[in-house]
Amino acid sequence: MRHFLSTAILVGSLAGHVYGHRQPVSSPHDQAPVRRKTLGFGPRHPHAVYHSTPYTIQTNGFTPQDPYMEPISIARVFIDDVLSTSSAEGLSYKIRDDSYTDKSTGVTHVYVRQLVNGLEVADGDMNINIKDGMVISYGNSFFKGVAPAAGFGHPVNFSKLQDVRVEACKDAHSLTAPTWNQDGQTVLGSAQEPIPAEFLKTLDNNCRTAFSAPEFSTDDPADVRSALLQFMHTATPNAKLAADIENKFEEYAEKLVVAPVHHLTSNDNEMHVEFSIDSVPDAVNPVKARLAYIQVPNAAGDATELQLVWKFEVEMEDNWYDAAVTAHAPHKIVSVVDWAADSAPIPAPENVPATYNVFAWGVNDPSVGERSLEKEPYDTLASPAGWHAIPYAHDPQSTNIRRKGGDFWRNTTTTWGNNVFAQENWEGANNFVSNYRPDAGKSKVFDYPYDPKLTDKADGLEEAKKYINTTVAQLFYTTNRVHDLFYRYGFNEEAGNFQQYNFGRGGRENDGVIANAHDGSGYNNANFMTPPDGQNGRMRMYLWNTALPFRDGDLEAGIVIHELSHGLSIRLTGGPLNSNCLGWGESGGMGEGWGDFIATTIRSNKEYSDYAMGAWAANREDGIRNYIYSTNTTVNPSVYKTLDKPGYWGVHAIGEVWAEILWVVSQRLIEKHGYSESLFPPTPREDGTIPPGDFYRTAAAGKPLVPKHGNSLSIQLVLNGMKLQPCRPNFFQARDAIISADNVLTGGENFCILWNAFAERGLGSDAKIEGQTPWGGGIRTNGYAVPAACQVDDSA
Ligand SMILES: *[C@@H]1O[C@H](CO)[C@@H](O)[C@H](O)[C@H]1NC(C)=O
Ligand SMILES: *[C@@H]1O[C@H](CO)[C@@H](O)[C@H](O)[C@H]1NC(C)=O
Ligand SMILES: *[C@@H]1O[C@H](CO)[C@@H](O)[C@H](O)[C@H]1NC(C)=O
Ligand SMILES: *[C@@H]1O[C@H](CO)[C@@H](O)[C@H](O)[C@H]1NC(C)=O
Repeated sequence: MRHFLSTAILVGSLAGHVYGHRQPVSSPHDQAPVRRKTLGFGPRHPHAVYHSTPYTIQTNGFTPQDPYMEPISIARVFIDDVLSTSSAEGLSYKIRDDSYTDKSTGVTHVYVRQLVNGLEVADGDMNINIKDGMVISYGNSFFKGVAPAAGFGHPVNFSKLQDVRVEACKDAHSLTAPTWNQDGQTVLGSAQEPIPAEFLKTLDNNCRTAFSAPEFSTDDPADVRSALLQFMHTATPNAKLAADIENKFEEYAEKLVVAPVHHLTSNDNEMHVEFSIDSVPDAVNPVKARLAYIQVPNAAGDATELQLVWKFEVEMEDNWYDAAVTAHAPHKIVSVVDWAADSAPIPAPENVPATYNVFAWGVNDPSVGERSLEKEPYDTLASPAGWHAIPYAHDPQSTNIRRKGGDFWRNTTTTWGNNVFAQENWEGANNFVSNYRPDAGKSKVFDYPYDPKLTDKADGLEEAKKYINTTVAQLFYTTNRVHDLFYRYGFNEEAGNFQQYNFGRGGRENDGVIANAHDGSGYNNANFMTPPDGQNGRMRMYLWNTALPFRDGDLEAGIVIHELSHGLSIRLTGGPLNSNCLGWGESGGMGEGWGDFIATTIRSNKEYSDYAMGAWAANREDGIRNYIYSTNTTVNPSVYKTLDKPGYWGVHAIGEVWAEILWVVSQRLIEKHGYSESLFPPTPREDGTIPPGDFYRTAAAGKPLVPKHGNSLSIQLVLNGMKLQPCRPNFFQARDAIISADNVLTGGENFCILWNAFAERGLGSDAKIEGQTPWGGGIRTNGYAVPAACQVDDSA
C-alpha cells in the first residue's frame, strides 16, 4: 500500500533540490549536483482565443467553403475579416513561411505574425487551420488596441538607424551581393566558393566599427547594449559575473561587438532592426537582437498594450534563451523562454544494415528486460537512407571536404547520421563533432559488453565510462527510433522535424539532434534544447548517482523519449519557426506532460498496468513524479483542480497532471478500439502508398489514414492536436484541439469517448478557471459535465 498523499510534497521538493544537476563545467562531474538555473515567464494574454468550431467568413462576395480556393488565399480573406473589426492604424501582418499543408490530414496550418509600424509583435500570433476550403479552427493573440505612433515619443528614428546601418556596410555589401545567401543572413559566401579572407576583414571593419562607436546611452533603443547586459546580469548562473557586470557596466558595454544583420529580401510592410552581438559575457555564441513589440496587460487587466522591446536569442552553456527586454530604460525582462527543457528534476539504400546490442524498443530500462541484437530497424519512409548515412554537404565533419563530382552520401560506421549525432560529452561543453563515439567498422555491428561492477562512489564515474560504447550505441538507437516513430505520425520535414538533410521534402535543414551521453554538466537529470526549425536540437543525458554502480540515463528509454518529445511539441505548437509557445505555466507544463505520456504509452503492454516515470535511473520504485500513472483514482488522484495545490507551480508538476489525464483518455480509447502490439505503421509500398495492414483502417482514396487501435490512435490525436492548438495553449485549448483533431481524422467518432474521459479527471465542459496567472496560478473548478450530445448515450 502506497502513501502517496504524505509523500507527494516531499517528492516535489526532492525533485527540486536533490535531482537538480547543474555544476560548473570547469570541474565536470565531481561536485555536489546543483540545479541548473533557468528562467521562464511572460505576460498574460487575456484576449487570446482558440476557436475549434468552423468560422464563417463575413466578407461580402466571399463564397464560403470553396474547396478550390488556395488555403493561403482563404487565410488572407479570413485575417482581413477578423481584422476588419479592429480600426487601429498601422496594423498589418505577415504569413510565416513555415506554414504547411499536412498531407496526412489535408489540414493546412497557416502561421501569421502581427506587424505594427513595421515591427513584429513578438506574441501577436494567429494559427489558422484550413481544410476543404474552410477555417476549421484558429487561435488568435493579435494585439487589438490602438497602435502607438511610430517613433513612440522617444528619441528613436528608425530611418536614421537604417541609414547608419547601410552606410556602415555599404562597401561590404557591394562586395558580397552575389554571394550572400537568400535570407541575407550573416552566413557569407556560397556553398561552392570559399569566403575570401580579405572580404571578411572588410566586412568586419565596415560593419563593426560604426556600431561600437555610438555614445553609450542607457535610454536609446538604438543602443542595444544596456538592455542586453541587463538581461545577462539576470540570466547568468555565475553570481560573481553578475556582480561584476553591475559594477563595471560601462566596461562590459564597451567590449560588446555589435554588427548589423541584413536581410536582402524582405516583406514591404516589415522593418528589420537587427544586430548580432559578439563578446557577450557567458554567451557561447553571438547574441541575436531584434527590435519588436510585445504585449503587456493594461492596468485593468482585460486587454493589452504594446511595449517596445529587444528580442534576444542568447545561447549559453546550459540555457538557450529567447527573451524580450524593454528597449527603454529601465530595462525590464518582459518575457523569457528557455529553449532548454529539463527532464526530471528529480529510396532503399544499398547499405548493409547495422546491428546493435541494445535494450530493444519497448524495454524501458535494464530492470525490465535484457539486451538483444537488433538489426537497424530504420523506417524506409522516415529515414530513406538508413541511420548511418549523411550527405557530405550537410555533414559537420566534412565542412572542409569538397565534393569532387563524386558521392553525395557519406556512409558512416559510427553513431553519426542524418537524424542523430550521438557521442560522449564528459567534458560537459558544447563541442560535439570530435567527441568520442564508437566505430563498429565495416560490419557495423555495435555489440559491446555491459557489466558495470560495484565500486566506491568516488569511482562510479570511471566505472560507467568503461561502457561508453554500449551507452552511445543505445542512445543512437533509441533516438533514431523515436525520430522514425514521430515521423510516421506526422512530425515530418515540413512540420519541422530534426534532420540534417530533408530529401527535398520541405522544411529547414541542418538540424539533426545532437545527443550527448554521460554529459559532464551534471547528474540525475536530462535536458533538451529546441531552437526553431533549421538549428540543431541538443539533448544532454546524465548519469544518475542514485545507486551503485551509477545508473545511466541513456539506457532508460523513457527519459530519452521524454526529452525528444520536447522537440516534437515545441516544433508542432505554433509552427516550426516559433519555439516560444510552451515556455511557462500550463503550456510549459503540458510540454513536460506530453513527454511522460508518450514515453509511458511506448513502454506499455496489451495487459494494462500502471507505470512510474524514471524509476530505474532514480532508483525509486515510484519514480520521479508525485504519483505513478494509473487509471485508479486512489493510486493517482490527479484532477484538473490539483493544479491549484501548493507545489504545482512548476512545469513538471503541472505536466504530470496533464500526462495523467492523457493516460486516462488513451485507456478509454483502447477500451473502445483495442490495442496494437506495434506503434509503427506498415512499411510503404514501392509506389509510396501505405498498406493499411492491421494498423490503419481501410480508407477511401484521398482520406486520411486512421490508426485502428486505441493506443496508436491516441498518439495520432495527440500529435495532430499539437498542430491545431494555438501558441501558449492552456489545458482547455489543448483538450479542444485533441477533440478537433478527432473531428478532422474520423469525423468526430470519438467525440463522446474523449469528452467523457477528460471529464473523468475534472476537465469536462464546465471546468473553469478564474484569475489565471501566467505561471499557472488561478482558482480552478473541476468540470465533470459533457456536451449535451453525450449525455444520454455516451457510447455514441
Ligand atoms: C530621421 O532620419 C532621417 C535620415 O537621417 C531624416 O531624413 C529624418 O528627418 C529624421 N526624422 C526625424 C523625425 O528626425
Ligand atoms: C551509401 O549510402 C547511400 C544512402 O544510403 C547508398 O545509396 C549508397 O549506395 C551507399 N554507398 C556505399 C558505397 O555503400
Ligand atoms: C570501445 O570499442 C572499441 C572498439 O570498437 C575499443 O577499442 C574500445 O576499447 C572500447 N572502449 C571501451 C571504453 O571499452
Ligand atoms: C485502486 O487502488 C487501491 C489502492 O491500491 C486498491 O485498494 C483498489 O482496489 C484499486 N481499485 C481498483 C478498481 O482496482
